[in-house]
Order: sequence, then structure tokens, then C-alpha cells
Amino acid sequence: MERLDKLLASTGRWSRREAKQLIKEGRVLVDGSPARSGEDKADPDGAAILVDGAPLALRRHTYVMLHKPAGVLSATEDPRQETVLDLLPPELRRLGLFPVGRLDKDTEGLLLLTDDGELAHRLLSPKNHVDKVYRARLDRPLGPADQAAFAQGITLADGLRCMPAELELIGDGTEVLVTLHEGKFHQIKRMTASRGAAVCWLKRLSMGPLQLDPVLKKGEYRLLTHEEVAKIGGKL
Ligand code: URA
Repeated sequence: MERLDKLLASTGRWSRREAKQLIKEGRVLVDGSPARSGEDKADPDGAAILVDGAPLALRRHTYVMLHKPAGVLSATEDPRQETVLDLLPPELRRLGLFPVGRLDKDTEGLLLLTDDGELAHRLLSPKNHVDKVYRARLDRPLGPADQAAFAQGITLADGLRCMPAELELIGDGTEVLVTLHEGKFHQIKRMTASRGAAVCWLKRLSMGPLQLDPVLKKGEYRLLTHEEVAKIGGKL
């Protein structure tokens, strides 16, 4: 059983305060009877909740796919800089969403935001080896010897060992696709640097079974489809 004001607010349509007001105005019915206070409890899986006569569509968690543009921080708030949460509308911002892992400020591409801590933990845990695919543009080409080094597992300048990764060369090798099975800080930039090439542009294309939707322009977002949520093991 959960508090009714919390359940209403979890849809993102109302704040907690607005939900309390709706309840006070007698506009919320639980199993046919008007609710009286936000503190009333209801079973999110079993109760029939109507607001102004319309059934309440409850979701347990929210999953948002964002096409992160460069120049925006992968954080929930920052006193000075724009964050990925600032790109979402108020009804999504108040759900307590957070980015699942970080992209560097100058990296763009797929970022998942959710309020599902369990799923985030699962996707980020190094044990689970969730593949992440990046496209990078470099200041000088990489070649077959670099592919072999990536496949072996790169050792970074500070001695840190990376797991084997796939490097695919595009054209003359100044553009590459890299598939990582882990997520270390600045990993792509440090791996290419260890082979003498600097990243000029970096974009994440996918994370596990989740691919960046090509219809999303930079800065745009959408909710994951039911199918995508099922694929990543989320709970709607
Ligand atoms: N590797 C990087 O270097 N930066 C990112 O943002 C992601 C992977």
C-alpha cells in the first residue's frame, strides 16, 4: 500500500501539493469511494483509482531516452552549468530521475534516465558486462595493430588494465566504432590516447539492447517503449 498523493505524483502529471488538492476537492475515487486525504493508502497494483472519472495510469518507474548534446553535464543538478535534467520538462524533472552512468560533458549520444535504482545498478555493474558502442572521430587514424591491441585489452598510461574491446575502423581509420564491456572514467579517450590518437568527437550509440533512436535530435528525449523497457529488464 502506498500513499495516494505519492501515487498520483508518481505519474508526473501533478506535484505532491497538486495531488493533495485534487484529493481534497473530492476528484479522486479509490475503488468507488472519494479519497479524503493524501495520506490515504491505496494498493498500486490492485486499486481502481479514478481522477475526474478517468482511470489513473500508474507506472512503477520511468525510463527516458535522451540524445545528450555536447556541453551538458551528466548530473541531476549543478549550480552553474546546464545538466541533462534541465533538458526535461517539469513533469519529468520532479520524478527524481537520474542518469544511468555518465557521459563526459563534451560527449553526445544515448543517455538513459530513470528513477529505477535497481536497474541502474544492474546496467552499470561491471559484472554484467553491458556492451556500450561509441563512434569516435580521431586526430589521426588507427589501424589493424590498434585493433589487435584493443582486442587484447589496453593498459592505460596509469597502468590500469582495460577489458578486451572491439575496435572497428571506418574509412581511413580516423573514425572508429568502439564496443566496451565496462565503463571506466574517460575510457574511450584514454584508450585511444594510449595508441597515440586524440578524440575530437565522441557519441554513444547504444547501451546493451538500447539503441539511440535516430529520430531524436540532440537535446530531444522520449520515454522508452514497453518493448525497450522489457529488453533492459525494467518495471513499468
Ligand atoms: N569514454 C569517454 O572517454 N568519454 C565518455 O563520455 C564515454 C566513454
